[in-house]
Amino acid sequence: MQIRDHWQLNPDIDFLNHGSFGACPSVVLQEQQNLISELENDPIRFLAPERELTSKLDEVRDTVASLVKVPASDLAFVRNATDGVNAVLNSLPLKEGDQILITNHGYNACNNAARHVAEKTGAEVTVAEIPFPLDSDTDVIVEIEKQITPQTRLILIDHVTSPTGLIFPVEQVISLAHAKGIQVLVDGAHAPGMIPLNLTAMAPDYYTANHHKWLCGPKTSGFLFVQPELQTQVRPNLISHGANRKCRNRSRFITEFDWTGTYDPTPLLAVPAAILFLETLYPEGLDQLYQKNHDAAVKARQVLCHALQTEPPSSNAMIGSMASVPLDATRFTKHECSPAALQQILFQQHRLELPVFQLWDSDHWCLRISMQAYNEVHQIDRLGSVLTELTG
Ligand SMILES: Cc1ncc(COP(=O)(O)O)c(C=O)c1O
Repeated sequence: MQIRDHWQLNPDIDFLNHGSFGACPSVVLQEQQNLISELENDPIRFLAPERELTSKLDEVRDTVASLVKVPASDLAFVRNATDGVNAVLNSLPLKEGDQILITNHGYNACNNAARHVAEKTGAEVTVAEIPFPLDSDTDVIVEIEKQITPQTRLILIDHVTSPTGLIFPVEQVISLAHAKGIQVLVDGAHAPGMIPLNLTAMAPDYYTANHHKWLCGPKTSGFLFVQPELQTQVRPNLISHGANRKCRNRSRFITEFDWTGTYDPTPLLAVPAAILFLETLYPEGLDQLYQKNHDAAVKARQVLCHALQTEPPSSNAMIGSMASVPLDATRFTKHECSPAALQQILFQQHRLELPVFQLWDSDHWCLRISMQAYNEVHQIDRLGSVLTELTG
């Protein structure tokens, strides 16, 4: 059996976009299907928190907590990273004149959430304009520091950026922010399963991430870590029974996030199967997976830079298993192209699935590839040839 056979991806498409929504291996989908059957066999037993759900969620919490190295009592579950970011932002005691600092590499949905909360509270959003390409991760710190003012209350920063595929130096951002009494919310949507995490050492105020991207869990599951002293303040986006439910040996924080109305807990309950699957894919476990995917992304970026006659936009150390390559828009204009049109051409004419982004303005585009264990070198070689042809 080849590694790719563990997934159900369409063999007629070269799927180079694990980053957008992840892709779930068959064994994990089967586990989720078993859980759904169990649920539908006896919905009350399965879903009523006091029967089985609470203890099942706690088992998952222990597994995820040991992966990201924090006490399980500091981890709540959310449906996705957008949910986690919104919960934190909506819970902040912001007042007029306060500032939320975001970056131009931030994920659009989460930056929108910051703007929405700012509109409601009279706070202001400020933006650190981090270059791309960039020389080193010092560029990130320098641009963030420039935007910090006495009014900055929170920095929202991606751990692994979405369009530009960079690992940001969040530990240094956190030290800088904490020295000035500013809180940090890390959007780690892509991080679990891509890079090792030690949230205790990192010490963010808040960290949210997805299980359905690089951990390969079923869609709609993620976590939200909150430092213990901030937990009483952070409320879920949906207020439900947890707000006044008796919490036996459990914090209000966990109790509220565990019960946000009726939902399907099976994606979450299948996460340990996804972690086990990834841990056992290679003899040396997750470390080997991280390294192999990183090496594949570095090689892929070289091939694409060669095809596009450009240089890698960052050091290799700043990427994990995704890589973005800037595109010179003028080289594609003969196809009357926009980023969306180029993405369509790649998919419809060449069966290559990958995103093409417009960055800050219409002259700055990039394409992003994702290298998960199922990807193979020939897929990148083919993409390189197609790009050479399109720009030739
Ligand atoms: C950095 C970042 N944050 C948040 C998200 C949102 O993830 P979700 O739609 O699962 O909430 C994404 C999705 O790609 C992302 O790249």
